[in-house]
Amino acid sequence: MPDVRVVNVVKKYGKVYALNNVSLNIHDQEYFSLLGPSGCGKTTLLRLIAGLIDPDGGEIYIGDCRVDKAPPEDRDIGFVFQTFALFPHMTAWSNVLYGPKVKNYDTKQAETIGHEVLELVKLSERLNAYPNELSGGMMQRIAVARALAAGAKTLLLDEPLGQLDAKVRNDIRYEIRRMAKDLKLTAIHVTHDQAEAMSISDRIAVMKKGKIIQVGTPKELYMHPNSIFVAFFIGESNLLEGHITKSDDKIAEMELREGYTIEAFNQKKLKMGDRAVLAIRPETCAMRQGLINENRNGLFGVVEKTTFEGTIVRYDIRLVNGDRFLINRPSLTEEWVSIGQEVTITYPLEKAHLFPYPENGLNDEISV
Ligand SMILES: Nc1ncnc2c1ncn2[C@@H]1O[C@H](COP(=O)(O)OP(=O)(O)O)[C@@H](O)[C@H]1O
Ligand SMILES: [Mg+2]
Repeated sequence: MPDVRVVNVVKKYGKVYALNNVSLNIHDQEYFSLLGPSGCGKTTLLRLIAGLIDPDGGEIYIGDCRVDKAPPEDRDIGFVFQTFALFPHMTAWSNVLYGPKVKNYDTKQAETIGHEVLELVKLSERLNAYPNELSGGMMQRIAVARALAAGAKTLLLDEPLGQLDAKVRNDIRYEIRRMAKDLKLTAIHVTHDQAEAMSISDRIAVMKKGKIIQVGTPKELYMHPNSIFVAFFIGESNLLEGHITKSDDKIAEMELREGYTIEAFNQKKLKMGDRAVLAIRPETCAMRQGLINENRNGLFGVVEKTTFEGTIVRYDIRLVNGDRFLINRPSLTEEWVSIGQEVTITYPLEKAHLFPYPENGLNDEISV
């Protein structure tokens, strides 16, 4: 229910900054995800918000209250773990009633709450079941019900779908979002799976090495990545390296290896001589057979490998300058191109993103 604000939060373990000056504003009733590779600080941030660990600096607010010095039980937060952490020897009913009992509610009051939350998660009929008699999706709903019964208004979920197999994951990720929305909760969901974050979140914070790199809706992150890292981590991108040979406010001309020149929109105002990286998504490109020299946004190459993936065919292409390039084309509506075929690839200028070459090198930028 409340909004959650994190202001300049720092958390160190020895010399390692698990979180390095992180600020975030999560809105009331928002379904918000923290997305990033393993070790980037997602769990640490969740534990700080929950009050399970203390920050070395900065402030945390839930609603109007500053909580970073408050004990966990005063924060009205429910934590759902990857393993659901249900008590295996207790029925669904006893699991749900655990919170109210710890809070010393009288039996009648605790039972009223128990019935209410089981109704909310639509598991009233299964209250006598033990966790091992429930499906993964049901266990997760019980975990949420238990958090709600304990008074949670903010739900923190740490890789809550991590233990489930792919099909079940896909089904219940929507369910957990719907539940949070129906119950008007603020939800903060941690995942390293970008497809999961993209499909369920109102907004996502992309994290890397203890920092937040970009916050936005799934569409904003996908359409307008602010960095090579986000372009690479959200969806897929081909990354072409080169240097700028000509530029104005609008268009930059970029020379790739082997003196091969292409064009891009110059959003970052790169200048002649600057090293640059052009990020192009595999699914935005068009491909024609043969080498057709009529566009400044044309790339020439040879198909080295094709992979049929159901809805799409992936083409691994070796460009004439030696760079590798990947493109995806729909498999049902287009004729397939064979291995060994020479092709011309064109990309829409407005969907390719030109970035300055990263200070620490491209490998460091995209390494996780
Ligand atoms: N209790 C701890 N002691 C020492 N280092 C820790 C501890 N918890 C986390 N770290 C370190 O902090 C960084 C962030 O970890 P974590 O928040 O668990 O990342 P994530 O959840 O994104 O995988 C990692 O480098 C991790 O090794
Ligand atoms: Mg983690």
